[in-house]
Amino acid sequence: MRHLLNPLDFSVEEIQNLLDLAADIEHDLPGYAHVCDGKKIATLFYEPSTRTRLSFEAAMLNLGGSVLGFSSAASSSAAKGESVSDTIRMISCYADICAMRHPKEGAPLVASLHSSIPVINAGDGGHQHPTQTLTDLMTIRSLLGRLDNMTVGLCGDLKFGRTVHSLINALVRYPNVKFVLISPPELRVPEYIREDVLKANNIPFQEVGNLDEAMPQLDILYMTRVQRERFFNEEDYIRLKDCYILDKAKMKLAKEHMFVLHPLPRVNEISVEVDNDPRAAYFRQVQYGVYVRMALIMTLLEVKKPC
Ligand code: NCD
Repeated sequence: MRHLLNPLDFSVEEIQNLLDLAADIEHDLPGYAHVCDGKKIATLFYEPSTRTRLSFEAAMLNLGGSVLGFSSAASSSAAKGESVSDTIRMISCYADICAMRHPKEGAPLVASLHSSIPVINAGDGGHQHPTQTLTDLMTIRSLLGRLDNMTVGLCGDLKFGRTVHSLINALVRYPNVKFVLISPPELRVPEYIREDVLKANNIPFQEVGNLDEAMPQLDILYMTRVQRERFFNEEDYIRLKDCYILDKAKMKLAKEHMFVLHPLPRVNEISVEVDNDPRAAYFRQVQYGVYVRMALIMTLLEVKKPC
């Protein structure tokens, strides 16, 4: 039985197969309408979510399966003090697969150790968010036609943004990917990403503070929200929250074929005036998230499309 806890749980070849499956799903949705008939996914969300939870649910419904779960810790037995390991033992009796989001780093890993069904990490604290990464990879591959030979700018809260950590982890495995890490000094990537992921793999990267200067060289700009819920004090959040705002003037500095991604939710970091720019890809990214999660559920449940 397999779980998805970290983007590196799948090899480059397995990711390619998964993205190929997701692309086939995109072009033949009806062909997959019954592949998970009778199967159930449990969505265990101890932290707020709109897209991730609903896209898992939409994915399972699109495959013919059904969904159960909870959307806040307060409405689950966690509020009574139940441990993650006890909860997952229970859920294993109710569902065939589960997606878990938790504020504590490593909670889905703990769940996987006590689970008899596949566990998908749907975001653990400031650590990892592998299904957002699969979504990001599908979006980049669909828009640019490749996952190698590109310069990726990541901008905003690179310290607490788990989508950033997972995406860097995944992209360092493709040839000739360069990173421009754009953040205020307080929100730089964590030490382990800089040392153990980037430097250890000899990946070219720059850490800069100025978005305008970085723009002209980028093929992808990945904007992120300042993660208010992970700050220790509100004062720092208020000081840093609007440090980058992508607007039309900044988009003029970018390549004609650069694409803007964002895991969403957006707060102020992308002005709505950018939404109609053909390079704004963040709403298309949401649609890819459903296809990729359909492909992931099928892969973990070892379900195939009927011939
Ligand atoms: C992200 C997350 O939860 O980490 N959202 C998402 O799943 N698309 C990004 C964020 O909350 O800023």
